[in-house]
Amino acid sequence: MRHLVDEEEMIVTPWEVRGKIDYEKLIREFGTQPLTDELLSRMKKYFGELHAQLRRKLFFSHRDFDLILDRFEKGQKFVLYTGRGPSGPVHIGHLAPWIFTKYLQDKTGAKLYFQMTDDEKFLTEDETALEETTQWGYENTLDLIALGFKPEDTSIIFDVKDIAFLYDIALKVAKRVTYSTAKAVFGFQDSTNLGWIFWPAVQAVPCFIHTKLTGENIPVLIPAAIDQDPYWRITRDIAQKLGYQKPAQIHCRFVPGLGKGGKMSASEPETCIFTIDTPEDVKKKVWNAFTGGKPTVKEQRKTGGDPYICTIFQYFLYLFEEDDKKIAELDTQCRTGQIICGDCKAILTERVNKFLKEHQRKRRKAKEEVKKYFLKA
Ligand code: TYM
Repeated sequence: MRHLVDEEEMIVTPWEVRGKIDYEKLIREFGTQPLTDELLSRMKKYFGELHAQLRRKLFFSHRDFDLILDRFEKGQKFVLYTGRGPSGPVHIGHLAPWIFTKYLQDKTGAKLYFQMTDDEKFLTEDETALEETTQWGYENTLDLIALGFKPEDTSIIFDVKDIAFLYDIALKVAKRVTYSTAKAVFGFQDSTNLGWIFWPAVQAVPCFIHTKLTGENIPVLIPAAIDQDPYWRITRDIAQKLGYQKPAQIHCRFVPGLGKGGKMSASEPETCIFTIDTPEDVKKKVWNAFTGGKPTVKEQRKTGGDPYICTIFQYFLYLFEEDDKKIAELDTQCRTGQIICGDCKAILTERVNKFLKEHQRKRRKAKEEVKKYFLKA
């Protein structure tokens, strides 16, 4: 089935991403704004050298990010908000927006609210137990801490544990959103369970939680992949009616899986690099990755490859090669057959394993500090 994915209709919802993703079309259909060169040059002016994820257009779209930059320019505050719906280990696709969030925090000093939605996958996945999602939530927290977020600037919200603090805002949001809007935005069906239908109100809450905690009515900026955008559409519609500021977003593309087409998704574990993978797992998965290479080495040397259909190249581009010069070199070497797929796979395996070795060390260390990060309400 996987190999037919390119011919499939594009579907992007918070729960399902399928088909060949046309990001320009998503901007039009979702009604977001492109992240223009003008915005990037403003960022460069304020933050210095742009993060590779911006230079390489992994982040490509936004809502009101220009207003956030206006605030930054005037020395006015805003906060960051992102999250995770735990039901298994974190993969390196999830890390991409979190790494970017850390960059934004380092550059702006903004506080981060991170929502661990241990209720979400319990409601949306048939077979998943609540105890399981909560347990994965704690496991996934270690990945966040391993990226270097500081406890004094970070509050992690666990929906189930913290619901008493979240519930009043969730109710106010839910009362303002009709079933017909929710159905149109999320595609709910007659068979959708009641918990799931209410649930988007819970993901809206951290957009306003800073105001509840401190009385400061300032906006949030949400870095995440574009699949989460439907939540913000309903939240933005009702924010001002509830006396809050509209949440702003900056959206990224999907880091692809190692198969042909599609985003990295835990539902296809063999095409997914998890942060808890062993060096052998990584070697095996990368070795089996889709590159679009030619059937024989001889042919590859003669006609070259196409880095823009190769999953391995995307990993260098988005996560594992900082140096723009080296990316350009790799591009040329691939197209001219000077470097072949086996070479690239060996280099990527080494890079990923080096990164994971260090990440796993920091994850182990994070176990001692987890409690310092929990929301103190
Ligand atoms: P979840 O757990 O599906 O994904 C966590 C974050 O990772 C992003 N993401 C990806 N980014 C790049 N490449 C990929 N292949 C990829 N796959 C997933 C998601 O967009 C998300 O940013 N409902 C949310 C949890 C949540 C949340 C939030 C996310 C609650 N509040 C606020 C973002 C912002 C979820 O299930 O995410």
